[in-house]
Amino acid sequence: MERSGMPGGDAAAPKGQVAPEETLAAEGVNKAVPLAIRIIILRGAKTHHPFQADSYIPIQKPKENPMNKTLRTPVIAGNWKMNLLPSQTGAFVKELKAATAEADCSAPSGRDACGVVLCVPYVNLCAAIGAAAGSHLKIGAQNCHWAESGAFTGEVSAAMLKDLGVEYVIVGHSERRAYFGDTDQTVHGRTRAALDAGLKVILCVGEVKEERLQGVTLEVVRLQTKIALGGVTEAELRGVVIAYEPVWAIGTGLTATAAQANEVCLAIRDFLAEFYGRDAADAAVIQYGGSMNAGNAAELLAQPDVDGGLIGGASLKAADFAAIVKAAGRQGVSASTVK
Ligand code: PGA
Repeated sequence: MERSGMPGGDAAAPKGQVAPEETLAAEGVNKAVPLAIRIIILRGAKTHHPFQADSYIPIQKPKENPMNKTLRTPVIAGNWKMNLLPSQTGAFVKELKAATAEADCSAPSGRDACGVVLCVPYVNLCAAIGAAAGSHLKIGAQNCHWAESGAFTGEVSAAMLKDLGVEYVIVGHSERRAYFGDTDQTVHGRTRAALDAGLKVILCVGEVKEERLQGVTLEVVRLQTKIALGGVTEAELRGVVIAYEPVWAIGTGLTATAAQANEVCLAIRDFLAEFYGRDAADAAVIQYGGSMNAGNAAELLAQPDVDGGLIGGASLKAADFAAIVKAAGRQGVSASTVK
């Protein structure tokens, strides 16, 4: 039976969702204590290392993941950001198509071993879609507005993207949050609009450096995920890729360790399980992003809960991006043969 998913949005409160009171009681926090204080106690109880100012040590000890990766198809998505001209796009996409065709993107099981998405600036979309037509490459945009249409000068709606032949859209990228005023609420609106238009969503979440140092990484990504997915049903969740992108790792050359990346991806998966059930959470594609490149991709992608990557700088050269796709394809093939 389908679960109704995250609370919030326009959906009614889901049945069977654990109320905060019950969660607190389950944690052994006395109900006589005022709620706000109990939440603080609970957060403290769950934060194994309350303040680690001197390192990026993971907040929780990595757990054994009971799942294997065979249920999921990793997705490698490039994010060009504001780079490359429309006139350069067709040739790039053709080169990428050829380079990634050699990658074994098709596992022995018959399902794709790896999905490949390229998210380009709005004005490059037509050229990218034309050059990718009929191939394994999917084209995505980097943002969309939350309204269907209206007086929003300079904006682009999800329906417009869909009409153009776009398949994916990134929402909530940290650069949109930092420089263009995106909030958890607007990210929620964009997610909703994209799903309503029939687009697949790459939802970005991640902590800034200070939050990691203060030991609140998991709280931050849970909050971002919960608000963005408010009202999103289990069926709709299948159209969402979550990209865990620690902000301190984006464009800095400072990559999360494989253990750090997996820890947060696993925490997001466990969080999804609370609302959507274990099966839906185990089927969810959760990427890592932040200075992933041809050199470090294999180790990151080998992690049990890392299902691909969102790649910025290294997606600007077809050969570099193809090397990451190949690394993911190999992981997909080996995961699907280990039954
Ligand atoms: P980066 O960017 O790979 O250049 O760190 C990742 C992103 O912003 O999605």
